[in-house]
This record gives sequence, C-alpha cells and structure tokens, in this order.
Amino acid sequence: MMSSVTNTFENVKAVILSAHKSTTSRDKVDFYNTWAENYDQDVAVLDYRAPSLAAKSILSHFSGDREAALVLDVACGTGLVAKQMKKHGFGHFVGIDGSEAMLELARGTELYQDLKHCMLGEEPLPVQWGVFDVVVIAGALSDGQVPVGVVRELCKSTKPGGCVCMTTRSNHDNLEYKAALGRELKQMEEEGLWSCVDVTEVEDWERAVSEQEDGYISGSVYLYKKLQQ
Ligand SMILES: C[S@@+](CC[C@H](N)C(=O)[O-])C[C@H]1O[C@@H](n2cnc3c(N)ncnc32)[C@H](O)[C@@H]1O
Repeated sequence: MMSSVTNTFENVKAVILSAHKSTTSRDKVDFYNTWAENYDQDVAVLDYRAPSLAAKSILSHFSGDREAALVLDVACGTGLVAKQMKKHGFGHFVGIDGSEAMLELARGTELYQDLKHCMLGEEPLPVQWGVFDVVVIAGALSDGQVPVGVVRELCKSTKPGGCVCMTTRSNHDNLEYKAALGRELKQMEEEGLWSCVDVTEVEDWERAVSEQEDGYISGSVYLYKKLQQ
C-alpha cells in the first residue's frame, strides 16, 4: 500500500498506469481496493473534476426539492459525488460500488443512508426500479470499468421525470467505449426511455497520465431525463 506522503504527480501517474494492466472489471475493482486509502488525495493531484462537473450539471437541470430528493450514486467510490451534492443542498444518498475498500471509506463519510456492494455488469443493480429522483455515475463509465449496457439499469432505477447524469473520458484509450456509450444513449432515446437534456464537453477534464498525452485530457457530462412510460 502507498504511504500517505507519496502523492506527487509522478507517483500518482505510476499508480494509475499500473492499473492499466487490469483487463477485467474485477481486476480493476481489486486495484481500487488497494488504492482506496490514497484515492481522494491522489485524484486531487490529478485535478480530477468529474464529481464537481457532474454535480454542476445536475444543479443546472434539476428543478425539484433538493433536500427531499433521493439520489443514487452508482460507482460511488469514496463518496466524492455525494460530498459535492451535499454542499448544494441534496440530502439523501444511496451508494453502490464493487470495491469493499472504497465502500468502507464512503461509509465513513456518513453521507449515505445505504451503501451496497455490486459488480456492475455482472449482477443486477441492487435497487428498486423507478424510485430515484437523481441517478449519477461519475468516473466509472470507461473501458475496463462499468460496461455500457449498465446505463439501461440506471434509467430503470430513475423515477419518471427524474434525471440521470453520466460522465466519460474523451481521451484516446476511451474513444471506442465513448462511441459505444453514445450509440446506446441514442438508441434508448429512440426507444422513448429518456430524452437528452444536455451534453457538456469539457477540455480540462483531468491531468493526462498516459505516455501519449500531456497536459489535460477532455471528457463529457451527459444529462438525461427519464420519460413517463
Ligand atoms: C474513478 S472511481 C470513481 C468514484 C467516484 N464516483 C468519484 O468520482 O470519485 C471508479 C469507481 O468505480 C468502481 N467500479 C469500477 N468498475 C466497477 C464495476 N464493474 N462494478 C462496480 N464498481 C465498479 C470502482 O470500485 C471505483 O470506486
């Protein structure tokens, strides 16, 4: 395990690059189990902004009562998304993640009324359908993490009229995944399941860590509204 004083950019880069050896979602989740303790401080070094960008998108489009709203935070990790949303008045969170160590840290925040373990894509989302006002997934829709098909379950778990916020990276090693995600989102719109409210393309998403890129990589935030059925 990394010590808590090793969070220089070069060290964080080495940690992330070591995760690229993970080929399956389970390998990736095992990696998060080992990274959990240093995750928050390391992603701060990367200038990782997916949680605040997702929260910003939700804030601009959610017109209901924030305090009363029930939020499902999928792939919640240590709880950075709930932390951002709490600052802006949201008060009820349920979190799901495949990493026990990340869930343990999320539990420590005391922000969640319930936290559940689930390997997304392998097991069904362990929640009731149609009950969440807001469903959010930040930093986990990418190659080797959460399979694209899981977005159907995100939509099912949302209340009609509620919103689903999703983020993905737009850098080279995630382009195929991003294209597949875009096709699935569009297909679901054609099926009348939801409608696209907003797509925000962000240039300075987070600091690049791969050999092929430098500076910042870009990313996208999608906001969809679940339709009445
Ligand atoms: C980059 S972190 C994002 C955590 C949090 N949403 C944030 O923005 O800080 C990705 C999270 O997704 C989880 N994850 C990745 N693939 C998963 C899968 N197939 N099933 C469940 N959790 C998964 C990891 O355990 C990790 O906590």
